[in-house]
Amino acid sequence: MITLLINDKKYKLDIAPEMPLLWAIRDVIGLTGTKFGCGIGACGACKVLVNATATYSCLTPVKDVVGKKITTIEGTTPNLQLLQEAWAAFNVPQCGYCQPGQLITATSLLNTINNPSDTDIDEAMSGNICRCGTYQRIKSAIQHTVE
Ligand code: FES
Repeated sequence: MITLLINDKKYKLDIAPEMPLLWAIRDVIGLTGTKFGCGIGACGACKVLVNATATYSCLTPVKDVVGKKITTIEGTTPNLQLLQEAWAAFNVPQCGYCQPGQLITATSLLNTINNPSDTDIDEAMSGNICRCGTYQRIKSAIQHTVE
C-alpha cells in the first residue's frame, strides 16, 4: 500500500512502488489536469509540484514521493493562483494541453525566486514545450505577476 498526499488529501493506493506518479495521479486517482506528453522527461506536460519544486511525474516512481506534499494543477498555492489569474488576463492558452505543466513550472520558479529576471524565466521555462508557440504570452504573464 502506498500513501500519497496530493492537494492536501491523503490517498491510500494499492499500486506498485515503481509506478510513475503520473499514472497514479491520472489513471488511479482520476486527476486528469496533469497531462501525458512524451513519457520521457522531454516536454514538461506532466509536471507537478513535489513540496514546492516542479517535478516530472512521468519519471518519478511513487515510492520516491511518499511523505512529500504533491500539488497538481487542481490544487492551489498562492503563487499558482496569482499565475492562473495572469494566464487568464493575458489569454495565454491556445489548445491548452501543455498549460498545466507550464503553470506548475512557473509556480516553482516563483517559489524559488521572488523577482525573476528575463533570463531566470527563460531558463526555468525551457523544459516546457508548447506546440502552439505561446511562449511570449507565458513570459508576459509571469512578468506581470512579479511586477
Ligand atoms: Fe513527462 Fe513529457 S510527459 S516530460
